[in-house]
Amino acid sequence: MQRDIERILIDRHAIAQRLDEIASQIMSAVCPVPDDAPADWQRDAANGVFDTSQCNQITLVPILTGSIIFVADLIRRLPLYMQINVMSVSSYPGSATTSQGATINKQLTELPESLAGKHVLLIDDILDSGNTLRLVTHEITKRKPASLRTCVLLRKQRPEAMALSVDYVCFDIPDEFVVGYGLDYNDYYRNLPDIVTLTPEAIAAHDDGTSS
Ligand code: IMP
Ligand code: MG
Repeated sequence: MQRDIERILIDRHAIAQRLDEIASQIMSAVCPVPDDAPADWQRDAANGVFDTSQCNQITLVPILTGSIIFVADLIRRLPLYMQINVMSVSSYPGSATTSQGATINKQLTELPESLAGKHVLLIDDILDSGNTLRLVTHEITKRKPASLRTCVLLRKQRPEAMALSVDYVCFDIPDEFVVGYGLDYNDYYRNLPDIVTLTPEAIAAHDDGTSS
């Protein structure tokens, strides 16, 4: 598998460092410090120490399968009361490397009531055409959450992706096909610890004929 890697775009250390930053931004947003809070409270929050009894509870909505590793690493940096409702959406069937239009695989059977009044954090692996995020945002908004924030590990630098407003973006990347750290090609390579591009030979080897 290692020889299928063309180049490492973002290595595991850079990912871990950026996750620390994003997690502290999320903590500050979820645990707001009132303007008239005592000085020691304000100082603690500035140092990343939060009294979690003062924080909003959040409901994470990770989009499967690509976000699994990202979410696993992120939630362990968020010492909050949280619930997790996963969702499954697919837009890249098989070995397709361009979006084929987003569809919801598993209907949102659990979500309708459970998201009402909740502070929701929607998490996806990568923002590409924006179809997935638009569709899921729409579905969640219908369920009347108290708030909805969005978080993506990667955002491709293409106009459709940059046009969408996202609250937390870990990395902007060039408009190329990447795998690793949860992202797949025809369901392979999710277990690579770094975010990488593949050699043309590897792409050809796992092509199942669905690419366009
Ligand atoms: P969008 O709906 O076009 O924004 O695509 C988002 C989904 O497509 C992501 O959640 C990924 O599952 C998949 N995807 C988009 N770009 C890539 C990529 O470069 N590598 C692997 N999967 C990707
Ligand atoms: Mg996905």
